[in-house]
Amino acid sequence: MNKLYFAISSAILLAAACLNTTARAQSVDISKGRQKAEVCMACHGPDGFTTAAPGIPHLAGQDRDYLIKALTAYRIGESRTDETMTAMAKPLTDADVQNIAAFFSTLPPPRQ
Ligand code: HEC
Repeated sequence: MNKLYFAISSAILLAAACLNTTARAQSVDISKGRQKAEVCMACHGPDGFTTAAPGIPHLAGQDRDYLIKALTAYRIGESRTDETMTAMAKPLTDADVQNIAAFFSTLPPPRQ
């Protein structure tokens, strides 16, 4: 009985994960993300990394879901606040966050 329950719930979770990925893949627009990210490049660099000033994290090649989580956290302003990034993230829409995160995650990560 337990095994059956496990099999069914695993199948449901897998289906949900697939649907979620499909829905996201369709709605994400990397070129719109690149456009929206132009203002971000002043600090984070055109390639998603910079050594221009201390304290600015690299975004290139970062995990997409992590970038979505970080930007959403700045937008909502409860779990993460930063004078600059809260101001940068507040005006972004859900779609902007998805597109920008997709854009930076596709850039090659910096070599250390
Ligand atoms: C004026 C400089 C500046 C601009 C412009 C800027 N950022 Fe940032 N960004 C920072 C700094 C500084 C931090 C580190 C903040 C902290 O300590 O929480 C940061 C942090 C982040 C993080 C968190 C990274 C991590 O590893 O947790 C993300 C994601 C991010 N910025 C995305 C963006 C996006 C997207 C834009 C454009 C909409 C943008 N930033 C514009 C300076 C900037």
